[in-house]
Order: sequence, then C-alpha cells, then structure tokens
Amino acid sequence: MAGLTSSTIGRKYAMALSAIFLLIFLVMHLSVNFLSVFGETAYNNASQFMGYNPLVQFIMQPILMFAVIFHFVMGFVLEIKNKKARPVGYNMNNGSANSSWSSRNMIISGAVILAFLVLHLYDFWLHEMNYKYIDGLPVEETRFWGDLHAKFADIWRVVLYIVSFVLLGLHLSHGFQSSFQSIGARHPKYTPVIRAFGNWYSILIPLGFIIIAIYHYITQ
Ligand code: HEM
Repeated sequence: MAGLTSSTIGRKYAMALSAIFLLIFLVMHLSVNFLSVFGETAYNNASQFMGYNPLVQFIMQPILMFAVIFHFVMGFVLEIKNKKARPVGYNMNNGSANSSWSSRNMIISGAVILAFLVLHLYDFWLHEMNYKYIDGLPVEETRFWGDLHAKFADIWRVVLYIVSFVLLGLHLSHGFQSSFQSIGARHPKYTPVIRAFGNWYSILIPLGFIIIAIYHYITQ
C-alpha cells in the first residue's frame, strides 16, 4: 500500500482500484434499496439479512468504509499535487473545447458527494432509526421499510438527495472510464465498449436512486 501511494502513478492506480470497488458497491446498494419500491417484505428481508449478517457488518462494511475514506483522501491529495505541479494551468486549455465539465470538475462533484454522504450516514446510521449503533434496542424485523419511507417525507431532503444523485452521475460519467484507463485497461476494441458501458452506468445508477427517492415521496 505504501509503495502504491508513494508515486503519482501508484496513487492514480490505487485511486482507480478504490473507484472500481465503489462502482460495484453502488450496484449492490441500488439493488437492495430498489427492493423498497417493490414492497415492504422484500426490502425488510434484504435489510434484515444485510444488517445482521456478521460477514457484511464486520468485514464488508469496514472494507467499504476504508475504501470510501481512502478514495476521498486520495482524490484531494491528487488534486493538490496536480495544482502544485501546474499552478497556472495550460495556456492551450480552452475549457469546454478540450474536455468535458465533469472531467475538469471531479473535485467539485466529489466534494458534493462527500457532503451528501455526511447527511446520508447521519440519516441512516445515527438519526433516530439506527438503534443498532445507538442503544441496541431489540431487533424489530419490519422497521426497515417504514424507516426508509419516513425519511423521504421531507421535500427538502428529497431535493438535496436528487441534486447529489445528479452530481454523482456527472462524477461517474468521467470517473468510470477514467478508472479503467488508470489501471491500464486500454485497447482499441474494448475501450469504446468500456466508455459506452460507463455512459449507461452513469445515467442508470443515479436514475435508479432518483426513482427510489421520488417513489417514497409521492407514496407518503
Ligand atoms: C435513494 C437513495 C438511497 C437510499 C434509499 C439509501 C439507503 C441507505 C441505507 C438504508 C443505509 C443504511 C444501511 C445500514 O443500516 O447499515 C445506507 C448506507 C450507506 N449508503 Fe446509501 N442509500 C441511497 C443512496 C446512496 C448513494 C447514492 C450512495 C453513494 C454515493 C450511498 C452510500 C452509502 C454508504 C457508503 C452507506 C454506508 C454503508 C452501508 O451501510 O451499506 N447511498 N444507505
């Protein structure tokens, strides 16, 4: 790990690996949460399984937390190093003519996602509902769907979440293909496929989260 993070190439590589891990997490997270649109029982069962499975709680969740923190810290380190290496910027860099908004502003979309995560973990880990981390009240197998549903009663929370999902989409639209490029997955035949897949991914994943938020708001 020390070797990976001591050079710029190593840091980019490590950053890309954590990104790919988070891309997989997002698919799983969306799949579980989308069950809440199909019915209470399916979502309660899945949450019960995830919430009280030692493998998920004591191994996968700490790894995920590490990946999230690592990705953010490394993102800021890379940004600062890039700025130091080239404080004035390229003369020829004519903004939108040469690159997309999302590729030039990964740090901004990343910071919005970080702010969203602070709110999100407060919502779902700390605030009222998550007895398991607060005072270990007895397990109530049917509480998950109701707790989730109640969160989206507030229009401002729904709006904040949706704005964050749009920024997540922009972050992914550059981040997906860029992370594969950083690990050296470049090939005349496969790069266009990765790019196309990344474009679909960066639309469908945020859209899925948006549908969940809107569904729970309009069915209050
Ligand atoms: C409508 C959209 C979403 C819903 C309903 C939702 C729901 C949840 C819930 C219920 C938990 C707590 C699980 C537990 O008890 O441990 C959670 C945790 C978490 N969420 Fe979300 N989430 C949404 C979107 C997102 C997005 C877009 C991201 C990432 C950008 C994200 C990242 C996380 C992370 C990192 C955790 C902590 C790890 C975990 O508990 O699995 N979530 N989310």
